[in-house]
Amino acid sequence: MRFTSAILGLALTTKTLALCPYAERALQDPDFLKQHLKERDAPKAEKQHDKRQSGPGNIPFTTFNENQLINVTGEYAWVAPGPNDIRGPCPGLNALANHGYFPHSGVVPLSVGASATETVYGLAADFGIPLTVYATLVDGDVVGDTWSIGGKQPQTVTSPILGAGDGLSGSHNKYESDASPTRGDYYLYDGDVSSVKVPKFQALYDLQNTAAVPNYDLDTLIQHRKYTFDNSLTTNPYFFFAPFAGVAVANAAHTFIPALMSNHSAEYPNGILDTETLKSFFAITEAANGTLSWTPGYERIPDNWYRRPLGAVNEYSPVSFAQDLVQIAAVVPEAVSVGGNTGEVNTFTGVDLGNITGGAYQTSDLTNPTKFVCFFYQLTLAIVPDFLRSEALGSALAGALNLLQTEISPFVDPSCATIANYNDAFAAQFPGAAVGQP
Ligand code: HEM
Ligand SMILES: *[C@@H]1O[C@H](CO)[C@@H](O)[C@H](O)[C@H]1NC(C)=O
Ligand SMILES: *[C@@H]1O[C@H](CO)[C@@H](O)[C@H](O)[C@H]1NC(C)=O
Ligand SMILES: *[C@@H]1O[C@H](CO)[C@@H](O)[C@H](O)[C@H]1NC(C)=O
Ligand SMILES: *[C@@H]1O[C@H](CO)[C@@H](O)[C@H](O)[C@H]1NC(C)=O
Repeated sequence: MRFTSAILGLALTTKTLALCPYAERALQDPDFLKQHLKERDAPKAEKQHDKRQSGPGNIPFTTFNENQLINVTGEYAWVAPGPNDIRGPCPGLNALANHGYFPHSGVVPLSVGASATETVYGLAADFGIPLTVYATLVDGDVVGDTWSIGGKQPQTVTSPILGAGDGLSGSHNKYESDASPTRGDYYLYDGDVSSVKVPKFQALYDLQNTAAVPNYDLDTLIQHRKYTFDNSLTTNPYFFFAPFAGVAVANAAHTFIPALMSNHSAEYPNGILDTETLKSFFAITEAANGTLSWTPGYERIPDNWYRRPLGAVNEYSPVSFAQDLVQIAAVVPEAVSVGGNTGEVNTFTGVDLGNITGGAYQTSDLTNPTKFVCFFYQLTLAIVPDFLRSEALGSALAGALNLLQTEISPFVDPSCATIANYNDAFAAQFPGAAVGQP
């Protein structure tokens, strides 16, 4: 099957690096991958009712299996990051590094990004591979095929970094965005995009804290989406919401919380995300008087935590995200548009997507799941070459462009419209578009 060969293809092209034990096993032991792919591809009964948490087609999970338990003992035991370990704006990735599913350093080989996010969280390969390829090309090392989950990758004498190498924290408006669930905006916090802003977390926390059965589900995150978007709108004169970093990534950062952090069980096969699990993934502790505090880098997968089931209908794919985006748009339509404030707060101006994509996609396509999925891949193919060229990679450029094509093309439905003329002239009207750019 297509995803399988893509993931194996990635594994085979990866250079030999000092990997964490999990990654080495995934790369060297084909049975290890096969085992999880078998589990993933097992046929699943389908039933149509609950929209929460489910895979493509919004099909709810009907099964629960003990093998959804994620191992957090032995080599996967939680270990705090040391002074030279990198952590960044993504709690899901920080937790993987703390548990040895990623190298503890926070510098991740291309293939490990997609395999670990699938095995541990149930993020589908057709989502995880593009996200990891994008990280490698836009803010990673395009020769070593590694990327950093936080700040700049360290250079060694023997391996100079070719590419930006700035990491996710240094990718403002390319990957990292304003209006995140709990992190602050670049302009408001002088470039600190990785720290949890406790009041923002508190706003989310309070939505379910006193509920009879607290559950940070998609509806809750949509409410929080309204809050986080308005927070940037009303406090950041340079708020900017880019096509990829904003519409795709910052919205996914909201939907990933219920989709990938919920705990699954026989009682709640569709998962439930309670207060303790939420705080654990976000490195938040609560004092006896209820005061919350954040400890940088302490993101943790809770003990006895069960991820969503694997399998093509169960994993969280771009189709699942596109469906969640439709639900976001029903409540917060402005969060599904490209645009920004124009130098003062409360001046958000949306841009016609047709203008940006040379007519290939319209703003209304963002809420058409089939077209959104097309847009997601085609946008990646259109914008990454620009980012690469601006980094003057010399002879590495051809290899990087080739990697982009070979890794993304397998996912692209040939009937999708191609973005032949990506036009970023629209960005000039938004001062925030230039914030944090070199
Ligand atoms: C290779 C896979 C992934 C990449 C490259 C990635 C990258 C990122 C980036 C760049 C951000 C910052 C977005 C922003 O500024 O709004 C982010 C945020 C986030 N990511 Fe990930 N991510 C990945 C997988 C995951 C997974 C598997 C999870 C969940 C288990 C996750 C959960 C989140 C959440 C909740 C946020 C919002 C953080 C906040 O504002 O507090 N991500 N991720
Ligand atoms: C977790 O992994 C360790 C190896 O580090 C192994 O000894 C242990 O049996 C595993 N636990 C489970 C529940 O699979
Ligand atoms: C709550 O408790 C924490 C830690 O014990 C303390 O630092 C904080 O000042 C207290 N806050 C209030 C409002 O009492
Ligand atoms: C997940 O749910 C199971 C079943 O209710 C429970 O035993 C386990 O403690 C839960 N895990 C977490 C992290 O809440
Ligand atoms: C696209 O937007 C730019 C800048 O906002 C504007 O100058 C141009 O006229 C627009 N083009 C079309 C075809 O709408």
